[in-house]
Amino acid sequence: MRGAVSVGQDTRMQLEAAQESKMWLGILLALTLCPGLEGQENPFTINHIYMNILPGKEVQNGQNLTLQCVVDISTTSQVKPQHWLLFYKDDVLVHNVSSMKNTESYFIPQARVSHAGTYKCTVSLNNKEKTSKEYQVCVKGVSSPRVTLDKKEAIEGGVVTVNCSVPEENPQIHFIIEKLTLDAKSVKQRREKTSQNQNFMVMEFTVEEQDHVIYFQCQARIFSGTNVEISEVIKSELVTVTESFSNPRFHISPEGVITEGDELNIKCTIQVTHLAQSFPEIIIQKDKAIVAHKEHGKEATYSVMAMVEHSGNYTCKVEASRISKVSSIVVNITELFSKPKLESFTPRLDHGETLNLWCSITGAPPANFTIQKENTIVSLSQDFTKIASERDGGTYTCNASIGKVVKKSNAVQITVCEMLSKPRIFYDSSSEVIKGQTIAISCQSINGTAPINYRLLKANNTSESYGMNSNEPAVFKDKPTKDVEYQCIAKNCHSHSEMISEVLQVNVIAPVDEVKLMVLLTEEVESGKEIVLRCSVNNASSPITYRFYREKEGSPFYQTIWNDTNVIWYKEKASKEDEGQYYCTAFNRANLAKSNPQSNILNIRVFLAPWKKGLIAVVVIGVIIATLILGARVCFLKKAKAKQTPMEMARPAVPLLNSSNEKMLSDPDTEANKHYDYNEDVGNHAMKPINENKEPLTSDVEYTEVQVTSSEPYQGLETKGTETVYSEIRKTKPDVMENRYSRTEGSLDGT
Ligand SMILES: *[C@@H]1O[C@H](CO)[C@@H](O)[C@H](O)[C@H]1NC(C)=O
Ligand SMILES: *[C@@H]1O[C@H](CO)[C@@H](O)[C@H](O)[C@H]1NC(C)=O
Ligand SMILES: *[C@@H]1O[C@H](CO)[C@@H](O)[C@H](O)[C@H]1NC(C)=O
Ligand SMILES: *[C@@H]1O[C@H](CO)[C@@H](O)[C@H](O)[C@H]1NC(C)=O
Ligand SMILES: *[C@@H]1O[C@H](CO)[C@@H](O)[C@H](O)[C@H]1NC(C)=O
Ligand SMILES: *[C@@H]1O[C@H](CO)[C@@H](O)[C@H](O)[C@H]1NC(C)=O
Ligand SMILES: *[C@@H]1O[C@H](CO)[C@@H](O)[C@H](O)[C@H]1NC(C)=O
Ligand SMILES: *[C@@H]1O[C@H](CO)[C@@H](O)[C@H](O)[C@H]1NC(C)=O
Ligand SMILES: *[C@@H]1O[C@H](CO)[C@@H](O)[C@H](O)[C@H]1NC(C)=O
Ligand SMILES: *[C@@H]1O[C@H](CO)[C@@H](O)[C@H](O)[C@H]1NC(C)=O
Ligand SMILES: *[C@@H]1O[C@H](CO)[C@@H](O)[C@H](O)[C@H]1NC(C)=O
Ligand SMILES: *[C@@H]1O[C@H](CO)[C@@H](O)[C@H](O)[C@H]1NC(C)=O
Repeated sequence: MRGAVSVGQDTRMQLEAAQESKMWLGILLALTLCPGLEGQENPFTINHIYMNILPGKEVQNGQNLTLQCVVDISTTSQVKPQHWLLFYKDDVLVHNVSSMKNTESYFIPQARVSHAGTYKCTVSLNNKEKTSKEYQVCVKGVSSPRVTLDKKEAIEGGVVTVNCSVPEENPQIHFIIEKLTLDAKSVKQRREKTSQNQNFMVMEFTVEEQDHVIYFQCQARIFSGTNVEISEVIKSELVTVTESFSNPRFHISPEGVITEGDELNIKCTIQVTHLAQSFPEIIIQKDKAIVAHKEHGKEATYSVMAMVEHSGNYTCKVEASRISKVSSIVVNITELFSKPKLESFTPRLDHGETLNLWCSITGAPPANFTIQKENTIVSLSQDFTKIASERDGGTYTCNASIGKVVKKSNAVQITVCEMLSKPRIFYDSSSEVIKGQTIAISCQSINGTAPINYRLLKANNTSESYGMNSNEPAVFKDKPTKDVEYQCIAKNCHSHSEMISEVLQVNVIAPVDEVKLMVLLTEEVESGKEIVLRCSVNNASSPITYRFYREKEGSPFYQTIWNDTNVIWYKEKASKEDEGQYYCTAFNRANLAKSNPQSNILNIRVFLAPWKKGLIAVVVIGVIIATLILGARVCFLKKAKAKQTPMEMARPAVPLLNSSNEKMLSDPDTEANKHYDYNEDVGNHAMKPINENKEPLTSDVEYTEVQVTSSEPYQGLETKGTETVYSEIRKTKPDVMENRYSRTEGSLDGT
């Protein structure tokens, strides 16, 4: 606009010289053309831009704040170009203006905390832009809060609502509201809270007992950057408080000195205002105990006949929902006479002794007495004497009375003891006691005052002690391992010494748990000699049943019942059949449930006596010699004829030898039915001479020789020939023999 006006002046000066008619056309032309010419032809540059902050970067809350943006633009033209000026707070555009001036202002009347921040301004002209540096502006202080109350008069226990607001400021605002009393000028309650969305805060405060005149004060705090801005503390109006009920008051009657027996009245009263919605509750307490109480009313009364025990500190409490008022008083009652005292010569007596109780009051004023056991009166005088029986035991007290005043004495515990009867001792003897089994031994004194202490003696030693509170039997557990005697001793409060029971004999039977089998002479028994076996057991109770077994035979070959822990079995003449493995078992009646224990296994061998072998050898050799002589003779006789028929000579010789062999073997064979080892030995000696006639060979080779010589017609003998040779091996190599021997046995059985 300014630019346009100055152009207009220039044109008028030129046109004054020219015609007037052309003037209006010229103005019109200039007005339309000038702005276009300017923009195109005037080069410009922005030199500088900065801000002035008035009155300063730090302003007090409520002061006017002016932000000036100053821009320096160079141009060829006389006229300043039109440009935009933009104001930013915290990078947010807050004000813009189009201007041709160097300086433009952004005015903030009455700056508030929310106006604090970082400001800058920007100039914008034909795509050229320049921004000032940033300026930190802070606002000191918070505008003063306003405090309003919902009432000016309140009742004790009521509620006052306080509204504290700071209308000029923006949330969040932190409020601190305090309740004060006018007389004390002290803070009675302080509450703080932050309002997130509103610039006010409403809080409720309760009116308490001692509040007479109260007021409230408020302060607001706002966070600004890293600082906290604080407002003034603003006070509210005063609130007058009315009592809902008065402090409680005590009224004691009678007045003055109170003596035992007087009618004592303790009354507590209050005054209640008409404003109160309901009556409070009144409670009279002595120490922790409530002695009187009234729910709806103005007073409560405790009435009692005065006794010394009623002396003390009484408290009256008046309670409404939020209010409680208390007062207390000390009541002093004078004693009329002291508490009576009951005495006994002794607290424990035996049955039949004299029970004596005596009741007295210090100073011995004239009084009436009663003595009672539990709740039964036993005497109407000061003393009580009686020959004691058990049921006289118990708790005794006495009462002393003067006029209406009755006092009870201490309690005296009297025990009257009846003597114990001789304790009986017993156990369940229906079945025999097996070693290791637990038995229960009972001990009982049927008569006599409980508690009774029982001790069990086991072979004169105390094994255990047991206390019983009745006359029921005391039960002791024991695990006897041998025959044992028990006795028990009972004792109670009676002065008589302890009572001893009879002796209880318990017999214990021990089961067989170890069995051993031994051979008494040797395990290798010569045939015909005796075999002696001993079966022995641990120290088990008799009678014991012993059983002897040969291996693999289901039933025992010998059984006996014996009163000893070992038993002997023997056989006078052992034979080959007695060879084998032996064991024994033993048990007694304590073994019933378990399987009977079994002994170790013994291996018994029976062999032929050396002299028998020798005898057999002699016989066999004799027979062989006789046969050879006979053979030689036959041979000599035939020699004459042999010259005519030499071919037949050899043939009869073989059957001769064989037949003699057959005979020789069959003879001992009959005996061998009983003892097969005998058979072997015969073979041994029988064959030796034959072998000696041939070439000397090893024992092993000898077998084949014999087997080859035996011819088919005599196959029945061949087996016997074989077994004979086996026996030979036994002599040379005992180890090998044993294996082969068993084979020989098999073949013998086969024929
Ligand atoms: C603040 O500005 C207002 C106008 O917005 C003016 O009336 C007032 O006088 C100014 N206050 C001061 C202290 O200059
Ligand atoms: C300045 O404000 C006006 C309205 O007041 C607006 O139309 C204009 O776009 C603004 N300028 C800029 C640069 O923001
Ligand atoms: C508290 O006061 C403020 C202004 O003084 C008012 O806007 C607001 O509504 C009031 N709040 C209540 C709960 O009365
Ligand atoms: C009586 O009891 C009240 C409450 O327990 C206590 O405050 C007061 O001091 C007591 N008075 C006396 C004399 O002991
Ligand atoms: C109560 O009275 C007795 C005398 O009658 C007095 O010795 C005692 O101090 C009193 N006790 C109180 C607490 O007043
Ligand atoms: C004892 O009892 C009798 C009868 O009840 C009564 O007359 C008398 O006054 C009593 N004596 C005392 C000291 O209380
Ligand atoms: C003895 O006195 C007590 C209170 O002191 C009372 O409760 C009780 O009944 C009295 N006993 C008798 C037998 O009078
Ligand atoms: C127990 O006492 C009663 C009577 O008191 C008597 O008949 C009985 O014989 C007594 N028994 C023993 C074991 O002393
Ligand atoms: C037990 O004691 C009695 C005497 O008290 C005595 O005669 C007896 O021999 C004792 N028995 C044993 C096993 O010690
Ligand atoms: C019993 O007493 C004897 C000696 O009197 C002692 O040798 C023995 O160990 C005691 N037995 C038990 C089980 O206490
Ligand atoms: C075996 O038992 C008897 C009676 O039970 C006993 O007298 C004997 O001492 C015991 N012998 C051994 C060695 O335990
Ligand atoms: C074993 O002892 C009992 C009792 O002592 C007796 O009756 C029985 O005859 C005895 N038996 C033998 C075989 O001695």
